[in-house]
Amino acid sequence: MGAIFADVHVEDHDELCSGGDGNIVVEDWNQLWEGSDSSFRIAFAKEVLLEVVNAHPEAKELFHAVNIEDPNSGEFEAHSLRIINTFDLLVNLLQDRHALHEASLHLGHQHAARPGVVAKYFKTFGQELIKALAHLIDDFHFIAWKGCFKTLTKEIVGSIPE
Ligand code: HEM
Repeated sequence: MGAIFADVHVEDHDELCSGGDGNIVVEDWNQLWEGSDSSFRIAFAKEVLLEVVNAHPEAKELFHAVNIEDPNSGEFEAHSLRIINTFDLLVNLLQDRHALHEASLHLGHQHAARPGVVAKYFKTFGQELIKALAHLIDDFHFIAWKGCFKTLTKEIVGSIPE
């Protein structure tokens, strides 16, 4: 009987985002959305995405199919909600690093299938997300967020061109 050791070994923490950092980030994140409706989520995600495109104008055309030309359109708002809900899923997997690895890898494959999506856009996305969160969260845990954002998006960034 042969055992197949195809499983990737994933630690429950890493040097960028310790278990404690992960807990802090999950707590910050969930507190922020407590009692809020999807319009707050959409507005938040939209702001971050538009800042990314502002910093990298050539990335705008990537979102043509989701009607970025009209950021208040149903298509772009639906896309913004999809992104923030998926990011929410990633954050809440910080306490299960194996599942996080799998989810991040899956997103990596989805983004790799979109020619023109490159790693620097995710770096800017992280910077803008953290900037926006810092305005909204009292006593914001900057270092934990910086490290854990890299952990959350590690497999996405590793799957797309630099
Ligand atoms: C951690 C942040 C992000 C998350 C969680 C995320 C999540 C997603 C999800 C769930 C989809 C739909 C996947 C599919 O149906 O194939 C998607 C599509 C897409 N994402 Fe991201 N994304 C993120 C950041 C970015 C960034 C920074 C860029 C580039 C600037 C980007 C570019 C795209 C594009 C071009 C699409 C396809 C849009 C379309 O439907 O035409 N994403 N993203």
